[in-house]
Amino acid sequence: MSVVDLIIKKRQGLALSQADIAEFVSGVTDGSWKDYQISAMLMAMFIRGLNNRETADLTLAMAGSGDQFDLSGIPGVKVDKHSTGGVADTVTLIAAPLVAACDVPVIKLSGRGLGFTGGTVDKLESIPGMRVQIEPAEALELAARSRLLILAQSDRLTPADKKLYALRDVTGTVDSIPLIAASIMSKKIAAGADGIVLDVKCGSGAFMRDLESARSLAATMVGIGKMVGRKVVAVISSMDQPLGMNIGNALEVIEAIEVLKGHVQGDLLEVSLVMASEMLRCAGLATGSEARQILLGKIADGTGLAALRRMIAVQGGDPQVIYDYGLLPQTAAHAEVTADAAGFVASMDTAAIGRAFIETGGGRKTKEDPIDYGAGIILYKRLGEAVEAGQPLAEIRAATADQAAAAASILRRAIRIGPIAPEPAQVILDRMD
Ligand code: URA
Repeated sequence: MSVVDLIIKKRQGLALSQADIAEFVSGVTDGSWKDYQISAMLMAMFIRGLNNRETADLTLAMAGSGDQFDLSGIPGVKVDKHSTGGVADTVTLIAAPLVAACDVPVIKLSGRGLGFTGGTVDKLESIPGMRVQIEPAEALELAARSRLLILAQSDRLTPADKKLYALRDVTGTVDSIPLIAASIMSKKIAAGADGIVLDVKCGSGAFMRDLESARSLAATMVGIGKMVGRKVVAVISSMDQPLGMNIGNALEVIEAIEVLKGHVQGDLLEVSLVMASEMLRCAGLATGSEARQILLGKIADGTGLAALRRMIAVQGGDPQVIYDYGLLPQTAAHAEVTADAAGFVASMDTAAIGRAFIETGGGRKTKEDPIDYGAGIILYKRLGEAVEAGQPLAEIRAATADQAAAAASILRRAIRIGPIAPEPAQVILDRMD
């Protein structure tokens, strides 16, 4: 079928056959489909949806669009973790080293920022010298030296997802359950882990705004995992406010290091412990409450931080960043957002906070945009906290005063101060396996 006929078939709401999907994915991978044709197909898929069979076919075609890791040479159960995307979601940089410190190998593929959400690969690239684009043969050699590797998709690993991900980011086609499920699960299948723990974000700063859609995304991904014989667990966690206090590439690396040093408590630590506990459980190493104690021990004795340090060094980065944050990119312009009135932090439009972050220069507006690794936002308050009129709510860091001002104007509207504190909310909302 011609490219245009395939697009029209989906636009008309018809189900694509396995052969149609294979044709689409190979056209994306070999460049024979133009960006505008791929974008049109993505929009048709976004609007018309994909049934479970189409989603599974898309996932497997994307997983097979490039090389796949064979981790069987690495002893032990290999586990992987992936988030559906959030704001100040630095869990990977905390949970993965903690699990690796328990002698469980973690070799994972991560993504770049998508829409208003951040990406682990962008965060890691803020570390001077850090290499994330490593081909499978070299990665397997490096894995022998470090039980932890966090890699980007190269042109040879899930190249179809790499292309689709970048186009979805700039064509308004991100928040679709089948497209997210296929994107995540194709990377997880290609990365070869035996167990996969998914962090499905739900709330104002997530692609899934309500619990019902988050459950549906979780069930779709767990179902795909079952089909390919991988153990998959999905945790649904709240994204009704940024998970950590730092939003930005270098800023989030710093916050992750601070958590691993034992200096930070709160939601980011909590979600990291839950995800890492699930990873240990998947590896057959510990049950829930035992796992938590083991992981807290890895923070207390510094072995979690040492695992991160080893990974940075093995991937060519400067491990001194762990002790000297001045080695990370810095910015020239600063701005502050203050409370207009006294009261409580009543709600946060977390997606808008993610968009304010993009205005700082830290995220991309088009797929070719360079990013400013030092730019970002430091929040001072969490939901429900009391504030005085004029008290600082957040600090903005950017290269120019104009960028800082643009971010400040969005941020000011994204944080609502009200007379009554909202009910304290749970950060972990559900679990599915
Ligand atoms: N993370 C991914 O890898 N893909 C998506 O589509 C969303 C989040």
